[in-house]
Amino acid sequence: MPEHVAIIMDGNGRWAKQRGLSRLKGHEEGARSVLAVLKAAKKAGVRFLTLYAFSTENWIRPKEEVDGLMNLLALFIDRHRREFLENKIRLRVIGQIDRLPGGVQKKLAKLIDQSAKDYEYTLIVALSYGSRAEIAAAAKAIARKAATGELDPETITEETVTQHLYLPDVPDPELMIRTSGELRLSNFLLWQLSYAELYVTEVLWPDFREDEFYQALEAFNQRGRRFGGVVTH
Ligand code: IPE
Ligand code: IPE
Ligand code: MG
Repeated sequence: MPEHVAIIMDGNGRWAKQRGLSRLKGHEEGARSVLAVLKAAKKAGVRFLTLYAFSTENWIRPKEEVDGLMNLLALFIDRHRREFLENKIRLRVIGQIDRLPGGVQKKLAKLIDQSAKDYEYTLIVALSYGSRAEIAAAAKAIARKAATGELDPETITEETVTQHLYLPDVPDPELMIRTSGELRLSNFLLWQLSYAELYVTEVLWPDFREDEFYQALEAFNQRGRRFGGVVTH
């Protein structure tokens, strides 16, 4: 079983379009998939789940859609706060959180704090997240330490970079799922996914539920992971 699964939740707009609904209806149905997959991951014993909910690039979408997504996020936290706590799910976030509306930031901070003490599972939500921005910020932090003499540039290793990313203590995802068939990473966890198994399904995110998640885990279990070595079995 992978310890960490990351998902690019894509296809909400297409799901809505197929039904003659507004894109926002697609995002609403997508939020139900979030809950279903969160429960399925817990059941399967996946300790870390990272969901790509909003990218740095998504800010260019129409204001109405961006506002709708932010409202949906706030609503999701209010509605499911108790479930997070009862199911021992810790909430964490990655991304440029200071760009989110103040009200959303407050709700996030509250649940992050409430869920931080007693947990078994971790949900990481990528919000206003861009991997290149994350890596650039890490480079800046490392350069600053080098400039002040806190760090000797000759000692910089891959681990140093990892230690300056948003969540240095979280293991890399072993499996990355993308829904709705697109074969790209869209600026998601470029460093952390270096050796992840990739699983792309045509299923649109609002239709991706427990069974589809288990199918992805099943596919992962069939993969021969070699990490550059030779096949041993
Ligand atoms: C994913 O669905 C949700 C977000 C990116 C916020 P999309 O909104 O990208 O759906 P499509 O790709 O237009 O179908
Ligand atoms: C990636 O989906 C971002 C999220 C799922 C939040 P997009 O729909 O924004 O990606 P592109 O535009 O297909 O690359
Ligand atoms: Mg999309």
